[in-house]
Amino acid sequence: MPLFKIIDISPTAKVFLWKITEDFNELFRNVSLKDTSLARLEGMKSESHQKGFLAVRMLFQVAGYTDFDLYYDEFGKPHLKDGTHISISHSFDFSAIVLSNCNIGIDLEMVKDKVLRIAPRFMDVSHLENLTEAEQMRKATVVWGIKEAVFKLKNEVGISFPDHIFESPFQLSDKKCSAELHFKDVIQHYDILFEEIESDDSENPKQIYTLVCAVES
Ligand SMILES: CC(C)(COP(=O)(O)OP(=O)(O)OC[C@H]1O[C@@H](n2cnc3c(N)ncnc32)[C@H](O)[C@@H]1OP(=O)(O)O)[C@@H](O)C(=O)NCCC(=O)NCCS
Repeated sequence: MPLFKIIDISPTAKVFLWKITEDFNELFRNVSLKDTSLARLEGMKSESHQKGFLAVRMLFQVAGYTDFDLYYDEFGKPHLKDGTHISISHSFDFSAIVLSNCNIGIDLEMVKDKVLRIAPRFMDVSHLENLTEAEQMRKATVVWGIKEAVFKLKNEVGISFPDHIFESPFQLSDKKCSAELHFKDVIQHYDILFEEIESDDSENPKQIYTLVCAVES
């Protein structure tokens, strides 16, 4: 049951990370699900997605919640009944939640070369200049995560990654930066925290994941 890590990102916000090494049945046996969650689980096409969903429920339990404490709004954003803010992400072998007393967004992404092919569609690629290809992949993944995390925090229809969300210049070693959302004639500022997580077990090659959190400044 590998709870991988708990990260205190501020005195009032905690990230919980699960590394999925269990098979479906082991995860399923260890969580209680509402009927609506069971129906969602049954409708998921891939077992990997199902395991990510179940691992999120394992994290709820670590944090003192259950699936019965959670509901989704009409856009798909998760909320906890006690008013604590929550954001959820899953990517391949990891699931993550963040709990906070203020609105927050989280994104977890595996670093893959595909991100460089699509980078011009979602970011200012001048921010990738003077980096090795490996660094460009890692940095573009952070930028993607920033945009996903801001999107999840804001949760409004019509937000475009390239046109409305802008990251400030940063270095990979900074582990933090800021971002702005320019939307509907209002500019909102966000503090961004990011870190890389290495998944290295003996059976699989080393894989880097990027974890990004966005909070209102
Ligand atoms: C919904 C979206 C944010 C999910 O992100 P993702 O990277 O595909 O997947 P993740 O695993 O990181 O996140 C999924 C979780 O986000 C949460 N989520 C879904 N919709 C959400 C919303 N509107 N607001 C906040 N959180 C949301 C859910 O908790 C979901 O997990 P769950 O349903 O299992 O609980 C994403 O698909 C999306 O729509 N992005 C914006 C669209 C866009 O502009 N894309 C790129 C254009 S260049």
